[in-house]
Amino acid sequence: MLGSAAGGGAPQWNCACEVCRRARADGTSRLQDTVAVSGDGAAWYLINAAPDVRAGILATPELTPGPGLRDTPLRGVLLTTAELDHTLGLLSLREAVRLQVFATMTVQAALTSAFPVLPTLARYTDLELCDLSRSVELEGGLEVGRLTVGSKRPRYATALPAGDWVSALRVTDHGTGESFVFATCLPEWTDAFDEFLRGADGVLLDGTFGTEDELTGTTGRPGSARSMGHLPMSVSREHAVRHPGTRFRFSHLNNTNPATGDDIVSDGEDPWTGRPLPDPTGGKCETRRP
Ligand code: MLT
Ligand code: MN
Ligand code: ZN
Repeated sequence: MLGSAAGGGAPQWNCACEVCRRARADGTSRLQDTVAVSGDGAAWYLINAAPDVRAGILATPELTPGPGLRDTPLRGVLLTTAELDHTLGLLSLREAVRLQVFATMTVQAALTSAFPVLPTLARYTDLELCDLSRSVELEGGLEVGRLTVGSKRPRYATALPAGDWVSALRVTDHGTGESFVFATCLPEWTDAFDEFLRGADGVLLDGTFGTEDELTGTTGRPGSARSMGHLPMSVSREHAVRHPGTRFRFSHLNNTNPATGDDIVSDGEDPWTGRPLPDPTGGKCETRRP
């Protein structure tokens, strides 16, 4: 896990909210929503490329370059949205000798037109674009399945047509049979999503907001969590308890969410086995602070 904060990170450079103040005082920080996956420990793929991806890579020993001068275990990037907090880091990967980028054709179109990062990147590295509309096989024995979970366009792309804008990914390790679902932008927990994650070993869920009205309550700005494309943790937890064999964590934490200030904690009482759920605004969610 390279980063677990929503766009802006925590602390955000221009934010004086309680969570950001505390992070500054403690000298702690969360980078933005990016993970790395590997089937064999040798070939690695990022899920999303946040603006601070360079710091995340430097802090991840598995991604150390070598033995050749420009060898890197990083083979490519899988994009779950075209949002800036998931794509700006592509520019920081331009030094790569080659790079694979996996995205839906909808996301690829946005990154070729309204925000032309892909043609820009192709001038710097040997860029291979891969359609993520159907399952793909990755080097090292991983298979990636995808489900469209949302239709929200990035603000820079509101003129573009409807399509596969927001995805959840299911990464399966052929070697172990284990699978991991990445769904950090999830507007609704649909039946299709419930089926998509069934039997997964681990799920990384949308932790942008703890509660539906959190943004207005803390900043006075209008907009419910769901209207912004993010199912609040208070709701997703109610669904998660129906999958007791699966371990859920949260990422893409916004700095209005008190959980953003937590270190790695588990709830004390196990929230996934059906015992009473703690108040999600109490900040006791399972999160980590890479
Ligand atoms: C989101 O997660 O909803 C977006 O990244 C927000 C934004 O930066 O516009
Ligand atoms: Mn975001
Ligand atoms: Zn803040």
